[in-house]
Amino acid sequence: MRAVVTGCAGFIGSHLCERLIDEGWDVVGIDVFTPYYDPADKFDNLGRLLAEPRFRLLPTDIMQAPLAELFADRPAIFHLAAQAGVRASFGDGFSQYMHNNVLATQRLLEAALDAGCPRVVYASSSSVYGDAEQYPVREDRTPTKPLSPYGVAKRTCEEIAQVYQHLGLESVGLRYFTVYGPRQRPDMAMRRLCEAACGGETFALYGDGGQSRDFTFVSDVVDATIRAAHAPRPSPLINVGGGYEATMAEVIATIEDLNGAPLPLTVSPSQRGDVRRTGADTTRARTELGWQPEVGLVEGLRAELAWVRDRRRSRPPAALADVALR
Ligand SMILES: NC(=O)c1ccc[n+]([C@@H]2O[C@H](COP(=O)([O-])OP(=O)(O)OC[C@H]3O[C@@H](n4cnc5c(N)ncnc54)[C@H](O)[C@@H]3O)[C@@H](O)[C@H]2O)c1
Repeated sequence: MRAVVTGCAGFIGSHLCERLIDEGWDVVGIDVFTPYYDPADKFDNLGRLLAEPRFRLLPTDIMQAPLAELFADRPAIFHLAAQAGVRASFGDGFSQYMHNNVLATQRLLEAALDAGCPRVVYASSSSVYGDAEQYPVREDRTPTKPLSPYGVAKRTCEEIAQVYQHLGLESVGLRYFTVYGPRQRPDMAMRRLCEAACGGETFALYGDGGQSRDFTFVSDVVDATIRAAHAPRPSPLINVGGGYEATMAEVIATIEDLNGAPLPLTVSPSQRGDVRRTGADTTRARTELGWQPEVGLVEGLRAELAWVRDRRRSRPPAALADVALR
């Protein structure tokens, strides 16, 4: 089995590639190492993979990658590359979202259709829903009303995938809900909390702490993603939510508990683009993919905290200060 994984050096993509290698796949990973966060972190994410004989890295932009050649023998395609993050999508930053999300996805889908690839599994996001009127949100019932340009870009990718679906290219868009665990991106709240707990920057809490998220551990996301490539007739859009909804205040209390000390934090007003709540109905993922989340919030947070602690021990302080300032 052969797979092409875009965004292979990122948080989720690197875990996905490792699991595919463990399951016997040959993997070509594409990543351009965007500077959204330190590219050195992305090289670290690839640490194990670069020593694997069945893994090949193509350090290039999807917009320049030789996709016709890569897709010629119709591999499974896992498209995770994107400009992630809600806040940076406002203002001039949006051009990055157009390039790395909308244009890159359209180019990839076009090439997959031309090559006759069986299916593209791609990363979408809970951000497409915005603040819903009813929870949990359902793919076929809840209207999409993104609150950020990032969410609009993800929704646009879904619409483009539907166009290619009509032309004969099967695709499955997985709407991931707040993914966390070891290697989590440094801009994400749980990562910043774990860094603060281990002696890093004071955590800046945006809002009153009452905003809640449906948290999904990274190994569960990887499991759903691989299942989406194998499932007989999956729907074109599927929620992947861990089922562990918690407020930010609860997450802070859990990390304080695990760490045995109060967290240094400052409180600021909530930021534009932030939704109040996310919560997934995962009936489709359960029935069509045979998936269920395995890792609970406390266990998952313990794993992320341990990873942050180890990483801070093994890395020079200058490199960490650089990450914290981003
Ligand atoms: N982390 C989450 O909680 C979450 C939630 C919902 C959706 N998602 C989606 O899941 C996917 C993975 O997210 P992540 O958190 O691992 O992000 P990440 O930033 O760690 O990984 C994305 C990778 O894509 C690469 N990339 C970006 N544009 C590229 C291009 N044009 N060509 C080649 N490589 C490119 C980046 O260098 C990066 O390594 C993204 O599509 C993201 O939008 C993530």
